[in-house]
Amino acid sequence: MIGRLNHVALVVANLDVAIKTYRENLGAVVSAALTLPEHGVRLAFVELPNTKIELMEPWGDASSIAGFLAKSPAGGMHHICYEVDDLIAARDRLVKQGARVLGDGQPKIGAHGKPVIFLHPKDFFGTLIELEQQ
Ligand code: CO
Repeated sequence: MIGRLNHVALVVANLDVAIKTYRENLGAVVSAALTLPEHGVRLAFVELPNTKIELMEPWGDASSIAGFLAKSPAGGMHHICYEVDDLIAARDRLVKQGARVLGDGQPKIGAHGKPVIFLHPKDFFGTLIELEQQ
């Protein structure tokens, strides 16, 4: 059911420092920073030959990732995103199997402009999973 790895998302305390480090120390191609107020994040994408790394810092007062940084001030891995051909079919199958979809269970438009859902980390070995419609 799941397809390609679309991206791995990392929470960082300071996006500008993280962008500089990925560019200068790791020699990576990194996009310009963009702010997504509706997601409460400022982010940039590290473009790798086979996938992307999403660097995110909290933005605004109601950021969903502020709590993550409060618990892990150094930052860390936040979620992993797999592509699926049919998001609704994937969701319905997972719910039938007992997996929990975060929020109201309806797809939202994610950071890449495509519908996404998030699956509860307790159902998948402690890792938050994002599924993205292709
Ligand atoms: Co993501």
